[in-house]
Amino acid sequence: MQDIPLHIGIIMDGNGRWATGRGLIRTQGHLEGLKAAKRITKAASDLGVKYLTLYAFSTENWKRTSEEVGFIMSLIKQYLKSEFDFSIRNRIRVRFTGDMEGLPADIQEEILDTMRQTSGFDGMQVVLAINYGGRDEIVRAFKKLAANHSPETPLTDLTEKDFSAFLDNPDIPDPDLIIRSAGEYRTSNFLLWEGAYSEFYISQKLWPDWEKTDLEEAIENYNKRDRRFGGIVNVA
Ligand code: FPP
Repeated sequence: MQDIPLHIGIIMDGNGRWATGRGLIRTQGHLEGLKAAKRITKAASDLGVKYLTLYAFSTENWKRTSEEVGFIMSLIKQYLKSEFDFSIRNRIRVRFTGDMEGLPADIQEEILDTMRQTSGFDGMQVVLAINYGGRDEIVRAFKKLAANHSPETPLTDLTEKDFSAFLDNPDIPDPDLIIRSAGEYRTSNFLLWEGAYSEFYISQKLWPDWEKTDLEEAIENYNKRDRRFGGIVNVA
């Protein structure tokens, strides 16, 4: 019997390489990446994953050409629209992490609308990381804390638990497993705080090629890990 991770985060990498390797333009790779995101959302929900965080656009991705950025934004909108019926049917709750204010107004509206309409659902929760950076989330949390801070509580007494209450989604458990496609061994600013004890699974497969079996393989591999959270090997 497999232990299904409660929360899986995915760095969906390799869309550009998938396209250029086929002599196509990069945006074509993102289009296929969107299809893979839909497949894997369905697969995760079927497997009983409770939280799935998808890294769709980082705070650093603005450095790409305006054509590519515009295309990814339109895909995000498309994902929200086309997945809406699926979310309703499967009682999937859509959530958000990232700097909402830095996003185009129409995307903000679409995200907020989807979040509102799915807020009462008790199925899997899909967290869309858009205009997201782990460092940015920590700085925004610090600013929220500073704005809410009462002078009677000295900041020197601050605990990790107090601080984490100001992160984007403090009620969501930390990811058990973080998957990265396309073979790079780095976090790329994804869930820096929340991923402190996550297990990492790096796949050589490019994101547009991901199928349900790849997710199952990642979960199988996760089941072989010995999670110690900084403690010692459990010999009991
Ligand atoms: C990384 O590949 C991928 C992105 C920066 C965009 C990911 C976006 C989507 C899959 C569409 C939207 C999805 C959702 C769930 C709303 P890359 O371009 O860095 O690939 P490369 O490293 O091969 O160049």
